[in-house]
Amino acid sequence: MRIALGSDHGGLNLKKEIIKHLKSKNIEVTDFGTHTEDSCDYPDYALKVAEEVVAGNFKLGILVCGTGIGVSICANKVPGIRAALCGDTFSAHATREHNNANILTLGERTTGIGLAIDIVDTFINAKFLGERHQRRIDKITEIEKKYSK
Ligand code: RB5
Repeated sequence: MRIALGSDHGGLNLKKEIIKHLKSKNIEVTDFGTHTEDSCDYPDYALKVAEEVVAGNFKLGILVCGTGIGVSICANKVPGIRAALCGDTFSAHATREHNNANILTLGERTTGIGLAIDIVDTFINAKFLGERHQRRIDKITEIEKKYSK
């Protein structure tokens, strides 16, 4: 499995910890930035990761900002992206199983490193359950089409 990661300055340190953890499990990762603590704009990094995931270059993405909210809002503007902000492990597996989420978002200022790592592991190991959930995903796709120009 290949995972695309991105963050702004507010999520940089948690992203680094997640990358260290994933590499220790031999999971291939690509970090699309930011790479410094300089103040930057989270939409730039959320868009990069969302486009890589939607293009099929990566099965899953992980985005981190201060709260996880800004990157979640941005990523969800890209048709085909289902980004889920998770602050607990139940949500992390439920959003893969039910929503077929393809991007996990996390907040460095809201979620501690230990819990965040557990959320990451739970998210990447859970599987979409299909069936009635696919019908609901199809309805999400219909909403995207309705509002796409
Ligand atoms: C940056 O200060 C902060 O606004 C950003 O990381 C994020 O929390 C936005 O949702």
